Amino acid sequence: MAVLEIFKYPDPKLKKASQPVEAITEDTVCLIREMVETMYTAPGIGLAAPQVGQLQRIIVLDVDYENPGENLITLINPEIRESEGEIVWEESCLSVIDFTAEVKRAKRAEVVGLDEKEKEVTVVGEGLLAVVLQHEIDHLDGKLFIDRISRLKRELYTKRLKKMLRTGKALPERPRIMI
Ligand code: NI
Repeated sequence: MAVLEIFKYPDPKLKKASQPVEAITEDTVCLIREMVETMYTAPGIGLAAPQVGQLQRIIVLDVDYENPGENLITLINPEIRESEGEIVWEESCLSVIDFTAEVKRAKRAEVVGLDEKEKEVTVVGEGLLAVVLQHEIDHLDGKLFIDRISRLKRELYTKRLKKMLRTGKALPERPRIMI
């Protein structure tokens, strides 16, 4: 079991759409275990396969960060079946260093997908869980939360990031709940 490298914006791989998983193999199960370990180690409350360089439609999440492992959700080929309402949440991302921003999303989301045993699962989330489900599914479509903020805010961040990367003065990641 290994902790995988998390790709960071502006890595082009994060912009690509992931492919549906056609068959759940031993490799799929292994990737999921490594994603889970990577997420908890980060620490984070959600991780999508493209963030570790695998363009497959797989997400793992656990918003109950006080009891890691007890409410872990794994979804293969997840799809939003229903969503309603509106919520604004200050989001962050393991792939976007040193930045948070308010993002508007559906307040409640019903998502269907498969688990590791190919069983169909339905997850109904409200509040933070709904936010994380939508955030992770966005990753599968090559979308980051910074694609959902104003262009001006995104450009300001990109400028600051470039400077941080150029000067090597990227701030250490603060202990914070990372999606
Ligand atoms: Ni993210």
